[in-house]
Amino acid sequence: MREEKERYAYMKDWLGRFKSIALLGVLSVVLAGCGKENLTALAPKGGSADTSFYLIILTVSVMTLVFLAVVIPFIIVLLRFRKKKGDADFIPEQVEGNQKLETIWTIIPIILVVIMAVPTVLATFELADDADASEHININVTGNQYWWHFDYEDEEIATSQDMYIPVDTKVYVNLITSDVLHSFWVPTLAGKLDVNPENVNTMYMDAREEGVYFGKCAELCGPSHSLMDFKVVAVSEEDYDQWVTDMKEFNSEDLELDAVAAEGKELFDANNCLSCHATDNQDYQAGSLPVGPDLTSFADRSRFAGILLPTEENLVDWIVDPEKIKPGNKMTGAYDVTKEEAEKIAQYLMQLSPSDVTAESVDTEVLSDNTEK
Ligand code: CUA
Repeated sequence: MREEKERYAYMKDWLGRFKSIALLGVLSVVLAGCGKENLTALAPKGGSADTSFYLIILTVSVMTLVFLAVVIPFIIVLLRFRKKKGDADFIPEQVEGNQKLETIWTIIPIILVVIMAVPTVLATFELADDADASEHININVTGNQYWWHFDYEDEEIATSQDMYIPVDTKVYVNLITSDVLHSFWVPTLAGKLDVNPENVNTMYMDAREEGVYFGKCAELCGPSHSLMDFKVVAVSEEDYDQWVTDMKEFNSEDLELDAVAAEGKELFDANNCLSCHATDNQDYQAGSLPVGPDLTSFADRSRFAGILLPTEENLVDWIVDPEKIKPGNKMTGAYDVTKEEAEKIAQYLMQLSPSDVTAESVDTEVLSDNTEK
C-alpha cells in the first residue's frame, strides 16, 4: 500500500514537471510570433544589422551544439546504464585524473570560445570604425528625457523624433545626451549603443529597404523610459534630397492658416511654446539644442509624443495633460491651457508639414498599426 502511494507521488511529481516543460514549449512557439517586423534584430534590414544577426546565429549554434553534446549522452547514459532490478551493487570504473579526457574537455571549450570571440571582436571593431564618416551622412543625435533630437549639421537642418535617412548608404549617428544615460537602438537596422553625457559615441547604420523602422531607448532613464520611442524613416535617395530641401525651405510664418489654426498659432506664441520648440529651420544653428522637441515636421510624424498615433484627439489629450501620457516629461506645468485652447493649438500644429515625403509615404500601414495607442 505504502509503496503504491510512493509510486503515485513520484508519478504526480513527474507529471508536474512534464506540464512545465510542455508549457515552456508552447510559450516559446507562441511568443516566437511576437515582435514586429520593423522592431526586431532577427529580421535585419541593413549591413550593420546583418553583422549582429550573424553573430547571434553563430553564438546560438555553438551553444546549441554544446547543449546537445552534453544532454544527449547524459540521457543515453541515464537510460542505458541505470541500475535495474536484481543488478549487483558495484562502483563503475573511475576516470578522474585521466589525462586524455581532461585534455579533451579543456581544449574543446577553448576552441569554441575562440570560434565565438574572434568574429565578435572583429565585428565590434568594424562596427565602431568611423574612418570614412566624413564621406557619408552624419547625424548628431541627442537623447533627452524622453525624446530624441536629430541635427543634420551638413544639411543645416534639425528635427526630432522621426529621423530620415536615404536607403543604401551609410549613416553615422553621433550620440550624446543632454541629461541622463540613454541607449540608442533601432533593432532592425543596427545594434544598440549607449548615449553618454560626456563623450560622443558613434556608430553607423544603413537600410537596404525603404520603410519606417522603430527605435527604442534601451537604458532605464526615468519613469517614461519605455515611452522614449523614435522612428527611422528610410526613403529613396531622391526623396531624401527632396525632404532636406523641403525642411530647409519650410517657414512656419508663411503658412496659410484658417481662422482656428491662426488662433492656435496665437495661443502657441502666447504660451511661450516657442521658447522650447522650434517650428521651422529658419533659425537653424548647428549644435543648438531646443529645450523641447523640434516641431518642424510635426504633422508628418508617424507618432505624436513618440508613442501616440497621430490623431487630433491624441494630440489634444497630450497638450492638455502631458503628465498622464508621459510621466516625468519636462513639458508638464510649463503652461496652462483649456481643452478648447488645446484643440486650436492642435489645429495649428497639424499644419507643420513641410514635405510630401513622410513616414506614411514610405509605409502606408505605419499609421494603421493599432497595437499601439
Ligand atoms: Cu531614455 Cu530610456
